[in-house]
Amino acid sequence: MAVRIERPGGGPRAEMAESRCDECDEEETAMPAFGDYQNELYFQALFGTLPDLPMAYAELAARAEQALPPSVWSYVAGGAGDEHTQRANVAAFERWGLVPRMFVGAAQRDLSVRLFDLDLPAPVFLAPIGLLGLCSQDGHGDLATARAAAQTGVPMVASTLSEDPLEDVAGALGPTPGLFQLYTPTDRDLAASLVSRAEAAGYKGIVVTLDTWITGWRPRDLASGNFPQLRGKCLTNYTSDPVFRRLLGQPPEQDPRATVLKWVQLFGNPLTWDDLPWLRSLTTLPLVVKGICHPDDARRALDGGVDAIYCSNHGGRQANGGLPTLDVLPEIVAASDGRPVLFDSGVRSGADIAKALAFGATAVGIGRPYAYGLALRGTAGAVHVLRSLLAELDLIMAVDGYPTLADLTPDALRRVG
Ligand SMILES: Cc1cc2nc3c(=O)[nH]c(=O)nc-3n(C[C@H](O)[C@H](O)[C@H](O)COP(=O)(O)O)c2cc1C
Repeated sequence: MAVRIERPGGGPRAEMAESRCDECDEEETAMPAFGDYQNELYFQALFGTLPDLPMAYAELAARAEQALPPSVWSYVAGGAGDEHTQRANVAAFERWGLVPRMFVGAAQRDLSVRLFDLDLPAPVFLAPIGLLGLCSQDGHGDLATARAAAQTGVPMVASTLSEDPLEDVAGALGPTPGLFQLYTPTDRDLAASLVSRAEAAGYKGIVVTLDTWITGWRPRDLASGNFPQLRGKCLTNYTSDPVFRRLLGQPPEQDPRATVLKWVQLFGNPLTWDDLPWLRSLTTLPLVVKGICHPDDARRALDGGVDAIYCSNHGGRQANGGLPTLDVLPEIVAASDGRPVLFDSGVRSGADIAKALAFGATAVGIGRPYAYGLALRGTAGAVHVLRSLLAELDLIMAVDGYPTLADLTPDALRRVG
């Protein structure tokens, strides 16, 4: 194994695990583990109830395709170009294997992680997905996702592109933290307004997405003329915003076409490094930049006052012909020098999460899989997907003898074949 990386947050995690262990008592032994989800499922089967939601990713995707209108399926499942990068994201995980260690006695696992000043039950979060609203049958998928976050404790990164306003999404999160993802508009007052609304609504961080100020070349959607925002979908955070309304100069419902055209004008800001001080000045909340895949960019962003790096290629939706995000993760972790690194793109299983953690990700984002769960059964579907992923992660850590996240280092990985 050639790659060696200092795990960011490894120290605190290890300390947390140690202090838990020192304090082990009967009550703590009885605490439910994420892996217990399998007991629930086996016991329900003893009483004649088999799961009616898919247990494997391939079936999840196949059933979501049946459940969703073709245009929504195309938008969610599709990617850039011939979707090579999208497939490569997934395939990259198959090139690495976790090495099992024995005589570890990993009877209890600690998956908890500290991110900024947030104590999270597990190193997993819901990646921002615009169009979630349309993924659930009731048209309120953003709220359904927030409720899934509330039920599981898995934080949600709420997209700017949403069917329900960011305030309502925050309200549905309950005690689970949310972060707000900003597509930086060309108008600075509008950007500031969105950020201050997110602060007022109680979001715990701002995630600025850098790779989507322009839409990538997406043949699936181009072939069917499918771009939901141009049909007025998922623009509620704009139409509910006082600055957007002022710039529009009339109520958004008065002329829907004019509203969409104004949105097109304002949506994408091709940011440069010169904009970073301004972005930083917008909020005192932790600032995360999403789409970073080069170590120099990571270093420069951190030097510019960013609190965390989000390594992602947007699930291969934006630029084809790229690298799988997993392949660039070790360099990004090394460049981030102990600061948190969020990661997504291609995560389809608990094993994938374990591998990204072993490469040094602080927390791992789930994308398409939960949108598919949402398509099948709203909140319950997304909860099932999250619980299944966390159960598999927990059970892999048990079986392979990695009881804490601090134990999952690059030494746990070998290149396959
Ligand atoms: C339908 C769809 C919409 C998305 N919308 C957003 C968005 O609004 N903001 C954002 O930062 N990323 C967005 N993403 C990217 C995700 O946050 C994440 O990077 C990606 O889904 C990871 O790839 P994976 O789903 O293949 O694992 C979207 C992804 C999908 C599939």
